[in-house]
Amino acid sequence: MSLEDIAREIRSCRRCPLHASRTNAVPGEGNPNAKVVFVGEAPGRNEDLQGRPFVGAAGKLLTELLASIGLRREDVFITNVVKCRPPNNRDPKPEEIEACLPFLERQLRAIDPDVIVALGRHSALTLLRLAGREERSIMRIRGRVIEVELFGRKRLLMPTLHPAAALYNPRLRPLLEEDFRKLKGMLGESNQDEGLEAWF
Ligand code: URA
Repeated sequence: MSLEDIAREIRSCRRCPLHASRTNAVPGEGNPNAKVVFVGEAPGRNEDLQGRPFVGAAGKLLTELLASIGLRREDVFITNVVKCRPPNNRDPKPEEIEACLPFLERQLRAIDPDVIVALGRHSALTLLRLAGREERSIMRIRGRVIEVELFGRKRLLMPTLHPAAALYNPRLRPLLEEDFRKLKGMLGESNQDEGLEAWF
């Protein structure tokens, strides 16, 4: 099943109450063969209006952080744990995450990335749980490269802060920048495959 088939299912999904208040579902976008997938929490207002991930203020920062390490949005795949906007940008409820998670799992299987970057606590803890690990604190694990067994093979999970957290508290921005530099090191300066060879 292709990413576009999965996106079509997401757009017509009614598995949880968030479908009733959405303008658009936000399946995600980018390179279907990306080595790196970025997973945020849930769409906000701008994303809901446009049906695209990370297009508001947090998205602008994410795009800048990507550019700072030589990546364009279209080089990677960008998506969220939850595909529809929670009202007033509240945190997604556990049952909404559970209902939506099969879509993220199918997307990750289809893309088959080497590296998954979890943006923020919800994304990090959800992905770690998928890999059979329990964790509570994002600050304890941010910037770490965690080897996980996911969907049949070893992958690297790097939890970092959500860009919105750095907009809210500018003192966090250097930590996010540091994590992106680390990601760049992992991917290799010139050739993504060469950089990752050391891990696989
Ligand atoms: N925050 C997220 O977690 N995802 C988006 O797509 C936009 C903002």
